[in-house]
Amino acid sequence: MKNLKNALLLKQLYQLKQLGYKYTSVTPYKDEEQDLRLPDTLASLEKQAMECHLCELSKTRHKAVFGEGDPNAEIMFIGEAPGTMEDSAGKPFVGRSGELLTKMIENVLHIPRSDVYITNVVKCRPPNNETPTPTQAHTCQPYLMKQIALIRPKLIVTLGATAYHYLTGDDTEISKVRGTLHKQNDYTVIPTYHPSYLLRNPSAKKEVFDDLLKVKELMGK
Ligand code: URA
Repeated sequence: MKNLKNALLLKQLYQLKQLGYKYTSVTPYKDEEQDLRLPDTLASLEKQAMECHLCELSKTRHKAVFGEGDPNAEIMFIGEAPGTMEDSAGKPFVGRSGELLTKMIENVLHIPRSDVYITNVVKCRPPNNETPTPTQAHTCQPYLMKQIALIRPKLIVTLGATAYHYLTGDDTEISKVRGTLHKQNDYTVIPTYHPSYLLRNPSAKKEVFDDLLKVKELMGK
């Protein structure tokens, strides 16, 4: 909630700056004037995210990419951020790494991609596909947390270091933690490599295959 408050404060300071203010001695943001609760349905949360202007990524995005899949999924996949293709489609993982992710889900877990839920740490594409900054990731975090709270997955597969780091707060190297299980809140996190890393390093596919077999076993699939 503190992140959301800070983000709203920042947004209002940006607005004042656009109007020509260089300095303000008062806090434009007033706690009691805002309803800081995020919506309690996935559809209204998505609507809010699609219209979000809490960080500068909203200025360069074409479409915010909220996430897609089964709203009651037992397994959730979290990537880093939308890329160029996702930014135009408004859907997560539709490019080359998306094709690979779909194969991983369908050929290893033996379930349709539509049976899981897929989203990212940040919902808008960072320019030049850079890693989201900590401020961008923290500003967007309430959306991800609310998605998890509403979907209530049993297992969350984080794809790459960024997703693992922002979900667990742990910044151990991904090569050291991949395939390990982390129980938190009502779900278990299992980190693995990001599909775009696999496109650059195909020899790591074997490790991801092993991680997904673990997912399959845990889910009794
Ligand atoms: N990479 C990601 O992390 N997410 C996407 O949606 C696409 C590529």
